[in-house]
Amino acid sequence: MPATVVVGTQWGDEGKGKLTDLLAKDMQMVVRYQGGHNAGHTIVVDDESFALQLIPSGILYPNITPIIGNGVVVDPGVLLTEMQHLQDKGVDTSKLKISGNAHLIMPYHQELDRVAERFLGKNSLGTTKRGIGPTYADKASRVGIRVQDLLDEKIFRQKLDVVLKEKNSILAKVYNRLALSAEEIANTYLNDYAPRITPMIADTVSLVHEALEAGQNILLEGAQATYLDLDHGTYPFVTSSNPTAGGACTGSGVGPLHLNRIIGIAKSYVTRVGAGPFPTEIFDERSEYISKKGHEFGTNTGRRRRIGWFDVVMLRQAKRLNSLSEIALTKLDILSGVETINVCVGYEADGVRYDYMPYHQSILHKVKPIYEQFPGWSQDISQATTFDQLPESARNYILFLQKSSGLNITMVGVGPGREQFLTLNDSFKL
Ligand code: GDP
Ligand code: IMO
Ligand code: MG
Repeated sequence: MPATVVVGTQWGDEGKGKLTDLLAKDMQMVVRYQGGHNAGHTIVVDDESFALQLIPSGILYPNITPIIGNGVVVDPGVLLTEMQHLQDKGVDTSKLKISGNAHLIMPYHQELDRVAERFLGKNSLGTTKRGIGPTYADKASRVGIRVQDLLDEKIFRQKLDVVLKEKNSILAKVYNRLALSAEEIANTYLNDYAPRITPMIADTVSLVHEALEAGQNILLEGAQATYLDLDHGTYPFVTSSNPTAGGACTGSGVGPLHLNRIIGIAKSYVTRVGAGPFPTEIFDERSEYISKKGHEFGTNTGRRRRIGWFDVVMLRQAKRLNSLSEIALTKLDILSGVETINVCVGYEADGVRYDYMPYHQSILHKVKPIYEQFPGWSQDISQATTFDQLPESARNYILFLQKSSGLNITMVGVGPGREQFLTLNDSFKL
């Protein structure tokens, strides 16, 4: 059976956790393919909220084998705590498997992320300070330590000794920080984490392919989003992995021909945490309203998310970059009560119109959005169960987003709850 991908089309926090949870009902396996605990994926079931960082959002279903793929970077301490929190809430985590090829986030990665951000001052990226960038950098430099190294004390210590010498020298000489102790790190990782992580380490590529061969349904869950992608995002204000659909292949070991459904997820407006260009960002009473009503604060870091209007230029480009087959639109309920809604349909800079993201980053920094205006609606739509039950202006908004992006919107979120997703039937398709 083919695999389905869930990929964010904006700057993250579009509702990937909620959509993954919903789709997982009909899946047998959910694989997280990149990122680490910089992600915060929220699922709300019967008023109970689950905020997942590393564990795939399908974990709540007993029918799912949750897999942390080779493309993920893993802080074992965070993972074990997250598992404990789920177990405390009665969730069975015993089927969780972790790729031995995934890279470990080490204490020096977190420390370097923190001090590098401080060092950059007003030019900082606004990272989550979880050590994500430094861990992927070590992976690319081939000095990373992998999950499978926890299985071999000698190799783990050998690798740690080599790499820590360099890291301590950077910490001391560049950042004026204290050196970290190899013995302390080895103790924590080998004596505390390894015994508990070892039973979960697996050849996840084989597991995924055996599932595909057995005709099972597999969901590949992205973290972050298209415009935080290291290659295609608003570099350098990006994360250090590839959330775009190609990353789903490399981060899980599934070849591209296995992907048959690539669901782009888009919020009904746009948010962004951290620094970087944001053409449709707004700073008025409407952004205040959306921020409060939509609880637009980071799931993990608590940081306030920046708010802007829906941007069709971004979505058109995301369609190209990910081969999107459709869109799941979330948080439409939050726009209830906004009198006039803007949609960005193009950019303008120096007399040139852009229907796709400008190739050169410096152009993106100065583009002006070209807006179309839509009358809003005042009704609460959180109880709607069909497209027809939405107010006419909400329906028009959805149909306009479809037409201007060239993508069918197949699901519309009207609340945080698991069931608060409308499915659009074929008669509304483009
Ligand atoms: P993710 O990182 O893409 O998984 O998204 P987050 O979980 O960080 O942020 C999305 C937030 O919006 C969460 O608090 C969700 O519970 C919530 N959410 C998702 N879909 C909807 C929706 O359709 N309506 C409302 N009101 N909330 C939603
Ligand atoms: P989910 O999966 C929103 C942002 C950070 C920062 C940049 C780099 O919940 O959508 P990093 O720590 O990754 O090096 O930070 O990326 N960022 C996110 N923004 N949602 C996320 O994840 C994010 N993960 C990273 O704010 O701007
Ligand atoms: Mg999030």
